[in-house]
Amino acid sequence: MESYTIQAARAVSGEITVPGDKSISHRSIMLGSIATGITRVTGFLRGEDNMATLNAFRAMGVEVEDDGTTLTIHGRGLHGLKEPEDILDCGNSGTSIRLLTGLLAGQSFFSVLTGDKYLRKRPMKRVVGPLGAMGAKIAGRGGGEKAPLAITGSKLTGISYDSPVSSAQVKSAILLAGLYAEGETVVREPHLSRDHSERMLRHFGADIEADGPHVKIRGGRELAGQEIVVPGDISSAAFFLVAGLIVPGSELLIKGVGVNPTRTGIIDILELMGADLTLLNQREVSGEPVADILVKTSRLRGIEIGGDLVPRAIDEFPVICVAAACASGRTVIRDARELRVKETDRITAMAENLRLSGIAVEETEDGMIIGGGGSFVPFTADSKGDHRIAMSMLVAGLVAPDSSRVDDIDCIATSFPNFLALLEQVARR
Ligand code: S3P
Repeated sequence: MESYTIQAARAVSGEITVPGDKSISHRSIMLGSIATGITRVTGFLRGEDNMATLNAFRAMGVEVEDDGTTLTIHGRGLHGLKEPEDILDCGNSGTSIRLLTGLLAGQSFFSVLTGDKYLRKRPMKRVVGPLGAMGAKIAGRGGGEKAPLAITGSKLTGISYDSPVSSAQVKSAILLAGLYAEGETVVREPHLSRDHSERMLRHFGADIEADGPHVKIRGGRELAGQEIVVPGDISSAAFFLVAGLIVPGSELLIKGVGVNPTRTGIIDILELMGADLTLLNQREVSGEPVADILVKTSRLRGIEIGGDLVPRAIDEFPVICVAAACASGRTVIRDARELRVKETDRITAMAENLRLSGIAVEETEDGMIIGGGGSFVPFTADSKGDHRIAMSMLVAGLVAPDSSRVDDIDCIATSFPNFLALLEQVARR
């Protein structure tokens, strides 16, 4: 397990591009594989999570060429996947396992999905339950709660499902199963989660209607291969947004970032805290809004965060905690129970790491209260195998005095393989 020693920075500056959006990259492989004809994907994120999805489809007979810039997917049509000879390993990726479970439930073959020790602890009933109501046959440990999951493909029927959680993985698993189900499949969620599946399904020609958190899909219609340009991942940009805000004397331009409104909770939260962010050159690419974001050092203040801001910034809370630690006054995060079932329990992980770095934090059942004040001390943090905890604490290391260490950083490769190189490129000392 690798560690990294990070030196305090005097500023961060320059112009960077972050790698492609992880959620959109997963979906481009999935839909490209079951569409008819060729799908070309540029800007694909070659992180471990997305490679797990790509390998799963290769194992089901999909030919994918990669020239280093563009992926060319030879789609096999809605019913053209073949039974994989072996278990499909989703690694650390919740999106891979949950979306694949939905997509594989309606196939005419048997498949088994598993993942690493972290993924095997995460709840799967949230997809296995509603898919079962559609007629899916899925077995797993703990009565279908935990991977490995064994899926015996079967005939599915559309359902109308009121999801108790605002989760794009749950919604997407049901919509992908809906492509294979008889009749109409409806999903409703409490607050709208990221809508990349809805947008991309529409782009590929699916019979889908979305009205905010209420989505309807009709199965049976073939999808047509598309050209997809994946925008930069706002969840990766988030580390640099916060770095630019909290390190004194900074000015940083992050180019080509996806700014889908279901993902821009981080921008809204940071602006509520007093951040100086400017969106430039706004445009639309492959059905997704994109912009360049200019960030300048700002005096942040603590705020209260809850409600629909939570799903719109769900992956950004670790780094929001670092911004809150630097703010004046306390920040209260609530309605964020979902953070406890991410790659690790992100509430406990951030509370422990911030305390080690000199910041007062109180954990609550569905969030935390962060003291603020920015009185960091040099620290040794533990990522607990979670990429976003590792990257957030490395950002904190830029404002702690002297140098700090973050342990177990290999996990960064799941979503952002060149993170450290980019961080060192913009850090001035
Ligand atoms: C994702 C959905 C979110 C997010 C994850 C990616 C997706 O998970 O945390 O990193 O691509 O659909 P939930 O659906 O569990 O909130």
